[in-house]
Amino acid sequence: MIKPHGSDELNPLFVYDPAENEKLKREASELGNIVVSSATAANAVMMGGGYFNPLTGYMNKADALSVARDMHTTSGLFWPTPVLNLIDSAGAHHIREGDTIALRDPNMEDHPIMAVMDVEAIEEFSDAEMEEMTRHVYGTTDTEHPGVAEFNGQGKTALSGPVKVLDLSYFQHEFPDTFRTAVEIRNEITERGWKNVVAFQTRNPMHRAHEELCHMAMDRLGADGLVIHMLLGKLKPGDIPAPVRDSSIRKMVELYFPPNSVMISGYGFDMLYAGPREAVLHAVFRQNMGANHLIVGRDHAGVGDYYSDFGAQEIFDTIPDDALEIEIFKADHTAYSKKLDKVVMMREAPDHTKEDFVLLSGTRVREMLGNGEAPPPEFSRPEVAQILMDYYQGLDG
Ligand code: ADX
Repeated sequence: MIKPHGSDELNPLFVYDPAENEKLKREASELGNIVVSSATAANAVMMGGGYFNPLTGYMNKADALSVARDMHTTSGLFWPTPVLNLIDSAGAHHIREGDTIALRDPNMEDHPIMAVMDVEAIEEFSDAEMEEMTRHVYGTTDTEHPGVAEFNGQGKTALSGPVKVLDLSYFQHEFPDTFRTAVEIRNEITERGWKNVVAFQTRNPMHRAHEELCHMAMDRLGADGLVIHMLLGKLKPGDIPAPVRDSSIRKMVELYFPPNSVMISGYGFDMLYAGPREAVLHAVFRQNMGANHLIVGRDHAGVGDYYSDFGAQEIFDTIPDDALEIEIFKADHTAYSKKLDKVVMMREAPDHTKEDFVLLSGTRVREMLGNGEAPPPEFSRPEVAQILMDYYQGLDG
């Protein structure tokens, strides 16, 4: 199987031994503590599950700036986005360098302890540094951008140092059939005997274009397994909640994929909407979970008009050859061709005009589903459309 990023073995930061986990939680209840931001909690869940291998904790200021500027830490590790624990002020929480503190989960009632952290450094980012990081990672500093707003809303004080993760938040409980750590996915790939594995990143329900993209990637790469890996963390308002996406994806796989060719799974991270940089992060953590290919299509991890259609593919041409082992399956805009009566990549149908394809905007699709009107079967499988219509109509009721 493909090696994890940056080390020979995967080193998840979750404390698996139940006695040790309990003991650390007990001790942590006596420590100074903070309720962290959702982004910090999501970072803990990803580090806990091995997805952020080989990181050992939250980055300090020098590493975060270095990663933002040129995708390497100060010690030379390839890494595309800062992984930070940002707070408003350390003083207000009585935290000092050298302390071990408990990190509490902002996304669960009563904020249970999710990790313990050795605070090696407490450093303040200047406004200019926050702006510089934001620009590099998100390609914009526009606060209308949901990722930019989230990143800059946490505070400017970085607590850095190693963490031990004690709890993976609400994901295991709320998505027992879908949430998986990188460790679990690696194990399952081994159990299934898959050697050549394609990962599909998604934060949306899957329509015909997505479905066919996966089939095309599997066929062309000679893959023996597809891991549909959906985001289970926070999204911007208006995006479809994970349980609805999950059930529509399950229905699609049940009806339109050969048995045992797909693993349906999800990860507990909040969407950054960072386009190209997030695509690279996606590649890193798919390598960590044991996939050797990642599909990157049109406007991957994008939002609004902030990124070019294929910027998330082009960024891979700019990174060092030996940065990652996982390979990118670069997909062109995919849509149903009325002429050919099937879903195709547009660049593979050069004699077509726009009118030859069934193209619907996201806004139009939402409008139709909300009105109880199924999009055409060339765009959406009827069984998938039904689940989405039920959801949208429930919203109105
Ligand atoms: S994402 O934010 O997770 O990237 P989404 O779930 O919509 O959003 O997309 C999942 C993957 O499918 C991404 O790689 C995206 O680029 C790709 N994709 C979505 N729609 C199309 C399309 N019509 N043509 C080509 N690629 C697409």
